Formats: sequence, C-alpha cells, structure tokens
Amino acid sequence: MRLRNVKNKDEIISNSVFVIEKPEDYKGKWNIVFDNDNPIQIEIGMGKGDFIIGKALNNPNINFIGIEKYDSVLARAVEKIPPNLSNLRLVRLDALNIDKIFDSEVDIIYLNFSDPWPKKRHANRRLTSSVFLEKYEKIFVDSKVICQKTDNQALFEYSVVNLSKYGYTITELSMDLHNSKVENNIMTEYEKKFSARGDKIYYLLAKK
Ligand SMILES: C[S@@+](CC[C@H](N)C(=O)[O-])C[C@H]1O[C@@H](n2cnc3c(N)ncnc32)[C@H](O)[C@@H]1O
Repeated sequence: MRLRNVKNKDEIISNSVFVIEKPEDYKGKWNIVFDNDNPIQIEIGMGKGDFIIGKALNNPNINFIGIEKYDSVLARAVEKIPPNLSNLRLVRLDALNIDKIFDSEVDIIYLNFSDPWPKKRHANRRLTSSVFLEKYEKIFVDSKVICQKTDNQALFEYSVVNLSKYGYTITELSMDLHNSKVENNIMTEYEKKFSARGDKIYYLLAKK
C-alpha cells in the first residue's frame, strides 16, 4: 500500500489505546489484553483497517487483531476505529515475526489483497509461501483456518497450490466472490477499489 508519510503518526500510535506497542509481551496470553477467553482472529497486512474494524463491530464475541508493517498505514487505521470497540487491537509488525507474538492462540488468519510479489525470486515473500505457513503452524490454536481474498489470479493460484501442498484442504473457493453464495462479506479498502472498476475478487477458505 502506497501511503504518504503521516507526519504525526508516532503521536497517533502512542496515544491510541488500541495499539499494542510491545506485542511480544503478550505471546501466549492475549486473553489478558482482552480480559476474556474469546477466540482470536487476525488479519495480516490490514492496511487502513476497514475489514478488521467491520469484523470487530459485527462479532462482539470474537477478539480481532490487525497486523500492519508500516506506521503511516497503521496510524490511518487507528483514526478510523470507533471509541469503545473493546474486541479490537492493532499491532505494528512485519509478519515475518508473527511467531514472536503469538503462541497457539489464533483461530483464523485473514489475508486480504496481500502484496502478490510476482517475481519468482520473491516468491518466499508471499504471505502463503512455506516461509510464512511454517510460522503460522505455531500460532494457531489447534485447527488451522486461513481465509484469503485477492484480485490477483497468479497469487490466488499459488496460494491454492501451496496451501494444498502444506496439508490444507480448500473448503470454500470462488473466482468471483461478489457473485457467489458467500455471505456476510466485509469489504476491504482494496476490494472496494478493485470491484468498483469491475475486477473479479478471488476468495478461498483453507482448513487443516
Ligand atoms: C495491498 S495492501 C492491502 C491492505 C488491506 N488488506 C486491503 O485489502 O485493503 C497490503 C498491506 O499489507 C501490508 N504488508 C505487506 N507485507 C506485510 C508484512 N510482511 N507484514 C505486515 N504487513 C504487511 C502492507 O503494508 C499493506 O498495508
């Protein structure tokens, strides 16, 4: 996501009750942060947060954590959160370190419009590459669920193949999410942009 530097990003982030600044302190004990034992679902690369905020508003009995690599993007997400949304937290983190902040406590990982990294030599940077799938193994509670949406056919095909190789079963799949039977879809910023110009949205749910 290209975003101009947000000048007061540090202030926005440090003043927010929603941002967890030392997430590694809560590894294996995120229930303390939320003060309950509700299930935890995360979005990696949440961008400006429309999806994860929408999920948290619609599902008060599930805890949501949005992960984003860049400060300026995170700051924009912070500004959109309605007050008193107690089941949402945000973390600034490169997903390469995801296993440093969670231990056997995540129910679902959402990957929405992740960077496709089209060059073969960058394939390991895709969030469904074995590099990341190996890290996800350690953070899931027990059963593993990955939900992906993308406009990028090559990334989608790569994900289907790689998830299957890694032992996941693709239980739901659509090559045109907005004309499918999938219900309760919450649109991301990218999804709104791409679908407005007529692009089809690819969707999968994978379980292991
Ligand atoms: C193309 S944007 C999509 C944003 C949002 N999910 C949406 O659908 O509108 C991808 C986002 O993932 C973030 N991102 C990319 N690689 C990441 C990584 N390794 N760890 C955390 N966030 C990452 C980017 O900074 C960017 O905000």
